[in-house]
Amino acid sequence: MTPDVRVFPDPARASRALAAELVEQIRIATEQQGRCTLVLSGGSTPRPLYERLATRYVDAIPWALLHVFWGDERYAPPASDESNLRMAREALLSRVPIPAANVHPMPTDHDDPEDAARAYEEMLRSFFGGEIPRFDVVLLGLGADGHTASLFPGSSAVDEKDRWVAASKAPAAPRHRLTLTLPVLNRAARVHFIVVGERKAEVVRRILKEPPDAVRYPASAVRPTEDALTWWLDRAAARGL
Ligand code: 6PG
Repeated sequence: MTPDVRVFPDPARASRALAAELVEQIRIATEQQGRCTLVLSGGSTPRPLYERLATRYVDAIPWALLHVFWGDERYAPPASDESNLRMAREALLSRVPIPAANVHPMPTDHDDPEDAARAYEEMLRSFFGGEIPRFDVVLLGLGADGHTASLFPGSSAVDEKDRWVAASKAPAAPRHRLTLTLPVLNRAARVHFIVVGERKAEVVRRILKEPPDAVRYPASAVRPTEDALTWWLDRAAARGL
């Protein structure tokens, strides 16, 4: 499978290009289905992308028809500076007129992360009428170790074939995580990786140039249908291609 790889001179232009693409995909989904389901990535890379959506495109997106979910969450309170929910609230959600009922964060208030994973899966089951979710758009980042969402090398969550949401352990703090699983990620209508920076160049090269290896590079197991996967890179991250 040869994914669509788009390389830009710098992170800002990669974010701006992906923002424009997302607006178009949200428009198409809402026109065709009356709603769009968007999965946000965590980490730091997407922040400029979210800020772009909240500023340049605040009037272009039908916020009342957009439902936002998360691909993963660090198991920390929403006020924590580790929280993916907090980052998305600061960069995007607090700045746009999206109804609170359209924002579906992963819960981090259960004593046991496994219970939180089950609770999120139940919410998804209810939202998608019992069927495995087919998200319209999924945003993903990439760790230098080849993880994506919170699917880390060697994690049993990478092998999960039945559950839609899993609790996982990260090699670095915050160790407890929640993550969507590959069956859900690979059913998405469109998947976008946004990856920037020199330190990701080697893992990008391995994932895009070598045979998939889900154990060592879980991101390589994100393989939706042919035309559903696009990589948005800056020149530094694409150096090995
Ligand atoms: C998270 C993310 C994770 C992230 C990568 C890249 O919760 O950290 O979901 O998968 O996308 O670790 O993170 P950076 O964008 O900060 O490099």
